[in-house]
Amino acid sequence: MPQEYRLILKHADQPGYTPGLDCYLRHGGYETLKQALTRAPKTLPDGKTLSGPEQLRDEVKLSGLRGRGGAGFSCGLKWSFVDRKSGKPIYLICNADESEPGTFKDRQIIYKDPHQLLEGMIIACYANDVHLAYIYIRGEFVEGAKILNRALNEARAKNLLGKHILGSGYGLEIHVHRGAGAYICGEETGLIESLEGKRAYPRIKPPYFPAVLGLYQCPTIVNNVETLCAIKHIAAMGGAEYAKLGTPNNTGTRIVSISGHVKRPGYYEVEVGKVTLGELIHDTAFGGGLRDGHSLKAVIPGGSSAKVFKAGEKFKLRRKGPEGREVEQEIDMLDLPYDFDTLIRAGSMSGSGAIIVLDDSTDIVEALANISEFYAHESCGQCTPCREGSLWMSKALHRLTHGEGREQDAEYLAKIADNIPGGRTICAFGEACAWPVQSFVAKFKDEFVAKGKADEERRAKENRAAKPVREIELTLNAKC
Ligand SMILES: Cc1cc2nc3c(=O)[nH]c(=O)nc-3n(C[C@H](O)[C@H](O)[C@H](O)COP(=O)(O)O)c2cc1C
Ligand code: SF4
Repeated sequence: MPQEYRLILKHADQPGYTPGLDCYLRHGGYETLKQALTRAPKTLPDGKTLSGPEQLRDEVKLSGLRGRGGAGFSCGLKWSFVDRKSGKPIYLICNADESEPGTFKDRQIIYKDPHQLLEGMIIACYANDVHLAYIYIRGEFVEGAKILNRALNEARAKNLLGKHILGSGYGLEIHVHRGAGAYICGEETGLIESLEGKRAYPRIKPPYFPAVLGLYQCPTIVNNVETLCAIKHIAAMGGAEYAKLGTPNNTGTRIVSISGHVKRPGYYEVEVGKVTLGELIHDTAFGGGLRDGHSLKAVIPGGSSAKVFKAGEKFKLRRKGPEGREVEQEIDMLDLPYDFDTLIRAGSMSGSGAIIVLDDSTDIVEALANISEFYAHESCGQCTPCREGSLWMSKALHRLTHGEGREQDAEYLAKIADNIPGGRTICAFGEACAWPVQSFVAKFKDEFVAKGKADEERRAKENRAAKPVREIELTLNAKC
């Protein structure tokens, strides 16, 4: 039976576990930091010596950890891009914006185990020679910001932050920065602009890859809350041990947020790829199945920007057969292992790990209208395809959901959506607003067409009914 595997959330929901430092220390907190700071240099067989921080970076590479913020990019690789020779300070930013609709995992860590995040951050900063770091948290998370500031003060008082942390000679300060609450502030370069006190306009990459030209034009690492917590566990257990969790190329655990029409919406930590999408939705250890008397209609597997799956959808994927050879297999949507690579191969993504379940009571046009309204509101407006496209799509969907639809609206929507992604915009928001429209319209086209057609027919009838009898008579006479 698939079960949760709680590594990051090991203590979070235990009775009596509190976010305070004393509680964290009682549960072995900051022991990994102590070990990390006192790691002795290691001499390799070729005579080269690796410092403690270099060893930590190697462990992260070995762990295969992929970012939990959305893109699933290799954390070790990202760290290897950091320009360490520029002579400029290196910054680290923890992305706690958690802006993708359907996602509610980072805030659980912050509310329930903030010191775990701080320990992960301090180790990540030490590994990368960072002496000033930020936690960028969305404005609405007022309580989360308070908890983090309290935790930072506790850590400062115990010399877990500041100069010469635990007598090591290594110094670090971490500040909490509250955003104003905009989806685009979660995009790493928009976030950096916002942190610099400007409007969160994403930057063009290249040249503004944060690892080279990030905060104040200095090398910067941006990592998600959950990614940074995983760093603490990688430092404790070693990269190779961590890589044994999960599946090859999709290592470790991840926290999945399940919402929508399931009996047990909530957050669940699982080994990546060891549980299928269907198990996460239906198993009693997770979503617990659909509401009684309802059947599945669709699943958004990775936050609102991920392409939707239709119930019963099948995919032809290459997988290892019983003899270990790769064979092409037909897999039902519910049997897809919930990992980064499989979901991409199935045409969607696991993104921020947010599964949104829609049952047969869902009006699919209404659902897409809701999503599109959000994206039209959140576009930063720098790029024409995104600014105009997201608005046109939202307007068309508003029409369709307010009795003003047209039969051709499905095609109109698809045409707009097809012209936004593919490198036409500065940031990936362009894709994020187009993917739901492309996939909803392609997979549920009949519902969009039917709605538009019904609206047109009803309007035509109303127009006929509204014409005064005298006018109709005149028209008929004229025709005669
Ligand atoms: C529009 C948009 C919104 C994003 N929002 C978030 C967010 O709220 N939290 C997050 O961690 N990453 C978000 N990301 C991804 C970040 O840009 C970045 O890739 C991530 O923080 C890197 O951390 P990771 O490598 O640990 O995943 C967003 C990306 C885009 C394009
Ligand atoms: S794609 Fe959209 S959100 Fe991103 S920079 Fe362009 S206009 Fe702004």
